[in-house]
Amino acid sequence: MNQMSISIKAKFISFEGIDGCGKSTQARLLIERLSAKHIKTCFVREPGGTSVSEEIRSVLLKNRGEAMSSRTEALLMTASRAQLTKDVIVPALEAGEWVIADRYMDSTLAYQGGGRGLDIEWLIRLNEFATYGCKPDLTLFIDVDPQDGKKRRHESAPDRIESAGISFQEKIRKQYIELIKLFPNRCICINGSLSPEEINENIWDEIKKRKFINEK
Ligand code: ADP
Ligand code: TYD
Repeated sequence: MNQMSISIKAKFISFEGIDGCGKSTQARLLIERLSAKHIKTCFVREPGGTSVSEEIRSVLLKNRGEAMSSRTEALLMTASRAQLTKDVIVPALEAGEWVIADRYMDSTLAYQGGGRGLDIEWLIRLNEFATYGCKPDLTLFIDVDPQDGKKRRHESAPDRIESAGISFQEKIRKQYIELIKLFPNRCICINGSLSPEEINENIWDEIKKRKFINEK
């Protein structure tokens, strides 16, 4: 299959940020708000979301003795994305459902690019291949200080990527800030240090500003 050409009325919104920034909370609050307006939504979380992608997720996040190469990591993240895009995201958009994604292609640019040091241009091309050219209409980068992200995370054992530490999260945050400069029409920075309700309000304002929904 080549790049998919789909006529989309439904919107595709992705949430991005470092570990523990509060993305999942914001994705949930946005879905509740859209549902109250009778807008059908489809929630996806990466890596994962199809049986193939969930198997890839367990390979990616398992702590094991041997190190995984950064290129392997990038290829597995994007392999999971290709399956999710083809099997879930594109069909949902075609059915008129808004897709709300807890991470998508920018996570690969931030983590495998900024974090692991892989070439961003290569990763952009890899993402184009994996996503069939299907890009979010809006990407919300929930920005928090890495120390706050760490505090917010659950007490449970960190997965392989979370184990990489604060300096790794700093590099990822820096890369997200670069991505906003690189893709200013699609990506925006949202202050993640506010309360969940205040953040949700600011996100709703951005959605209204773009006329994704009609509301005064
Ligand atoms: P992520 O999906 O980015 O890992 P979560 O939404 O799961 O983050 O939030 C991580 C933790 O922080 C959860 O315990 C959540 O209740 C809490 N949390 C989320 N948003 C906020 C916020 N704005 N202020 C304080 N705590 C928050
Ligand atoms: P997850 O437990 O889903 O974390 P979070 O709640 O922070 O999203 O684990 C996903 C991990 O995988 C997270 O540390 C980010 C990382 N990741 C990448 O490194 N590259 C990617 O392309 C994606 C989608 C995730």
